Amino acid sequence: MTDPSQEAFTGARCLVTGGARGIGRALAAGLIARGAAGVLVADRDAAAVREAADALGAEPAVCDLGEADAPARLVAEAVERLGGLDLVCSNAGVLCADPDPADATSADDAAWDLSWRVNVMAHVRLARAALPALRAADGGRFMLTVSAAGLLTMIGHAPYAATKAAALAFAQNLAITHGDEGIAVSVLCPQAVRTDMLNATPRPEAAMAEAALSVEETADAALDGVAAGRFLLLPHPEVADYAQRRAADLDRWIGGMRKLRRTQG
Ligand SMILES: NC(=O)c1ccc[n+]([C@@H]2O[C@H](COP(=O)([O-])OP(=O)(O)OC[C@H]3O[C@@H](n4cnc5c(N)ncnc54)[C@H](O)[C@@H]3O)[C@@H](O)[C@H]2O)c1
Repeated sequence: MTDPSQEAFTGARCLVTGGARGIGRALAAGLIARGAAGVLVADRDAAAVREAADALGAEPAVCDLGEADAPARLVAEAVERLGGLDLVCSNAGVLCADPDPADATSADDAAWDLSWRVNVMAHVRLARAALPALRAADGGRFMLTVSAAGLLTMIGHAPYAATKAAALAFAQNLAITHGDEGIAVSVLCPQAVRTDMLNATPRPEAAMAEAALSVEETADAALDGVAAGRFLLLPHPEVADYAQRRAADLDRWIGGMRKLRRTQG
């Protein structure tokens, strides 16, 4: 019997942002392993994205997606180099911590601005530019890498939690508005994944100790979910339970998070 999760990407033309390393690189590798016809990996880190593309058999593109016109240029380049676009993995993101974990307002405006441009506007601008190509594709797909922080929160990271929540809200609008056009939208909301981003958090060892997934496990769960046409992709299934508890009683949930913050010291 054929496996639909393997077949869904056969011959697909794919764009993966933040593809030089981490989850993005694993998504690109997974797509190639599942028979994608072409994958363009985009990243602001020129040397790393060229190395990744070489190693994977993908095409590299260097761009800073935090710049307003970069997403449209990137989509045009992808359509030209791949001959169209069936899947966009809008995955690049930045993590800004609160410099003073005892002050949720301590990140400066530059950190908030960067988080907004990369974690929210890059998705909006990529989607805006990619919609015509995805409509023209036979079953176009758009996956946003958000985070469990967008469904729940992330203690000590106000700009990250707020912009990931905004990205999730945008993804819902995208899915509702464009589903009837045959465009399937998915959001990937993992908790800890073993990447450079996780290593840069103030207490990576704590996150690592708690069920941190490998990038390969995360990408496999993501691609299986995209292939199945699911909106919400949770590589850590327990996140569904946390989100339900939060939705059922937000006051109680805030109380629980305050307790957790105290225990984190
Ligand atoms: N690692 C985790 O624990 C975790 C958990 C949940 C969600 N995420 C999300 O997964 C996505 C990938 O993160 P990762 O953990 O693989 O991180 P990573 O730091 O390993 O990789 C992120 C890549 O994105 C690129 N990038 C960042 N800003 C960019 C920009 N403006 N333009 C172009 N490229 C840019 C970086 O150069 C880097 O190669 C992010 O959106 C992140 O928020 C990560």
